[in-house]
Formats: sequence, C-alpha cells, structure tokens
Amino acid sequence: MNQVMQEQPGTKSPEQPLYSPGLEGVIAGESALCQVDEGEAGLRYRGYAIGDLAEWSSFEDVAYLLLIGHLPTRNELDSFTALLRDNRILPEPVQRFVDRLQSGLHPMDVLRTGISLLGLSDPDAQDGSHEANLRKSMRLLSQIPLLIADSHRVMSGTVLRRPDESQHFAQHLLHLVAGRKDGERGAAMAEALNVSLILYAEHEFNASTFAARVTASTLTDLHGAITAAVATLKGPLHGGANEAVASMLIDIGRPERAESWVREALADKRRVMGFGHRVLRQGDARSAIIQRHAERLSHLCGDHRWYGIASVLHRIMREEKGLHPNLDFYTAVAYLLMGIPRELSTPLFVCSRITGWCAHVMEQQEHNRLIRPRALYTGPTPRTYEPVDRRT
Ligand SMILES: CC(C)(COP(=O)(O)OP(=O)(O)OC[C@H]1O[C@@H](n2cnc3c(N)ncnc32)[C@H](O)[C@@H]1OP(=O)(O)O)[C@@H](O)C(=O)NCCC(=O)NCCS
Repeated sequence: MNQVMQEQPGTKSPEQPLYSPGLEGVIAGESALCQVDEGEAGLRYRGYAIGDLAEWSSFEDVAYLLLIGHLPTRNELDSFTALLRDNRILPEPVQRFVDRLQSGLHPMDVLRTGISLLGLSDPDAQDGSHEANLRKSMRLLSQIPLLIADSHRVMSGTVLRRPDESQHFAQHLLHLVAGRKDGERGAAMAEALNVSLILYAEHEFNASTFAARVTASTLTDLHGAITAAVATLKGPLHGGANEAVASMLIDIGRPERAESWVREALADKRRVMGFGHRVLRQGDARSAIIQRHAERLSHLCGDHRWYGIASVLHRIMREEKGLHPNLDFYTAVAYLLMGIPRELSTPLFVCSRITGWCAHVMEQQEHNRLIRPRALYTGPTPRTYEPVDRRT
C-alpha cells in the first residue's frame, strides 16, 4: 500500500492525529455492510461472498439484503418486488421538470437535481426515522430508473418506453434504457445487467458513500445525502470512469489500433480509465465476474470489437504498469454491447449504488458521530491586519 502517514509538523505526542493524504488507509468509521476481503472472496456484502451473490441472486435479493439486513425469504422477496413495482411512478413536479429538459445536459447533473426534487415531493420528507428512511430508500430505488429513462427520452427526442410490469428489476431497466431485447441474447443481456447491478451495489467507504455519510452525519435528510453522493459519483476518478471507458473504447474504434493507442497514452503519462484502484491493489474480484459476461455477450452479439480492444488494453496495462482492470472496465464493454447509451453508464451505476448509499445513511444515523476531521494548515504564518486604506 502507498500509504503515507505523517505526524503534524512540530508535534511528537502519540495522541496527535496522523495525516494521510486522500485519507488513504484511514479507518474513518464502523460498518457492517461490506467487507473488502482482497485475499479470499474479494468482497462480501453482510458476510456473503460477492461471487455467490452474482451467481445465484437477483438484484432485488441483494437490495433487500443491504437495506433490511438479511437475505429475504420467498414471501419477503415477493412483497419487496411488488412494493418496488408499485413505487414505479414519478411525482408530478418531478415529471414536469423532466418534460422541460433541454438537450445537451449531462444525465448525472439531471439525476442529481431530479433526486433533490424527489426529496421535496416525498411524503416522508419531514420524517428522519429509520422506518421513513427505509420507505424513502425503496421509493428512490424505483424512481431513479424512471428519472434516468424519461429524461434521456426528453433530451434525445426518442420514444417513451413503458415496461411490462412482470419484468424484474434488471429486465425493466434494460428495457427502459436500451429497448426491447428478445431471445437468447436478450436473456443474456438482462442476466449481465443483473450481475452488474449486484457488483455495483456496495463498496464500503468509497468516495460517494463517504460523501453520503459525511452529509448524513449532520443529521440532515436522506435525499440531501444521496444528492451529495450522486455529485461525487459523477467524477471520472470514481463512477464516471465507466462512461470514460466507453468513450475511450469508441475513440480507439478497432482492436488493431488498441496497442499503439495505449502505448502512446502511457508515454504521455495519461491515465487509462478503468485501471487501478485506491484499495484493491492486487486486482478487483468483481472485474473477472463482469469480464465473463462481457465475453459471452460479445460472442452472442457477434460483435468482438469492444472486447477485442479491451483485451489488448488489459494485457498491456498489466505488462507495462502492473495495473489491473477495475469493475468499470469490462462493465463498459458489456453496456456497449447491450446498446446502452454511453452517457447513461454512470446513471446506471446510481440505479444500483442507491442501495448501498441508503443503507450507509441509515447505519450512520443509527450510530451517529459527526464526521469532522482536521486539516494540516499550510497557509501564511500569523501576520498583522492592515485597514484597507493602508494596504499597498
Ligand atoms: C482509481 C485511482 C484514482 C486510484 O488512484 P490512487 O490510489 O490515487 O493511485 P495513484 O494515483 O497513487 O497511482 C499510483 C501509480 O499508478 C499510476 N496509475 C494509477 N492508475 C492509473 C491508470 N488508470 N492509468 C495509468 N496510470 C495509473 C499512477 O500514475 C501512479 O504512478 P506513479 O507512481 O508512477 O506516479 C486511479 O487508479 C485512477 O485514476 N484510475 C483511473 C480511473 C478509474 O478507473 N476510476 C475508477 C476507480 S474504481
């Protein structure tokens, strides 16, 4: 680990706080939600290995696990799924906001503003209890896909898609953002999207989750904390990386161009999106899972362009930099093959991570301690104040 821990200058006492740029390696709180377990399972949600959840669970199953605390029984899952379906509606003021959107706005900015607006319309807006927060979380889980799909429809001038109510979460989402997909290919796409939603759902104290927890620690409302999280996720060093990877793959265009492109990028000291991770230095176990789905979709679609480019980048980044792909890398390949518009890549991340964020907000507020760290002061030494007429 690259961790640099320094004592504040001039202080020798062991009680003095340590300084770690970017909070690298700092344990900033307790959580029972996700264990980063690099050696073995890679990642566990409330004790369950991510590989098992990706193999056997639906996203609804995992959402329930994160929000409620245990894997649901059949009856619990059926009621939860029914509730999510009933919540598939946007309040009037939010629908009006969506219907007036201009083209050219970034969907993550629209989503951030839309979620803030959902907070104004929520029937539990003034209630910060655990039960109310749970109800708000479940509403957001159903409302966010509609907000993304409807705003995309308005901004791109495309046709409104209303889903078949029998569809599960991933099928419903795929239909909303990429249209109807039939047959073996459609089933494989829905399966890959289901897996990607499970893999994206939770990841301990990442930047957006930490932003949500910092916000929640002032005991403000859940929608406020989620709005902060969405703004944080947008950046290309975090969730925005999946859109940046898609742009990179499109820019490279064909597998034959990939090697020269990446060697040039490295020679210019540019970051290659979708590689590296602050915590997972030995590789991201989630990447191998989504890679298998991306490869399968590539065969089923008879389109080997994106997977071909990705394989070359993967090899060269390992050889030249010793860096591994993170979850965003092959997810971008899978999303391109599903026909998901590039600019919706990060909003789809939100459709999933909303579960982890909401679970963290509730966990933070149930065992709250205001998050308020210190800074290492690097400004001027004390100086004399001059009234405005005496300043030169
Ligand atoms: C995720 C990320 C921000 C982690 O950064 P970090 O913990 O601050 O790691 P550092 O910036 O200290 O990187 C360590 C070294 O690896 C290099 N490196 C890290 N990621 C790199 C990348 N994607 N491409 C090229 N070089 C990279 C850095 O340049 C640095 O090299 P140096 O020591 O020669 O200067 C970083 O890996 C990155 O920018 N990745 C691309 C964006 C991305 O995919 N984000 C999604 C993360 S899930």
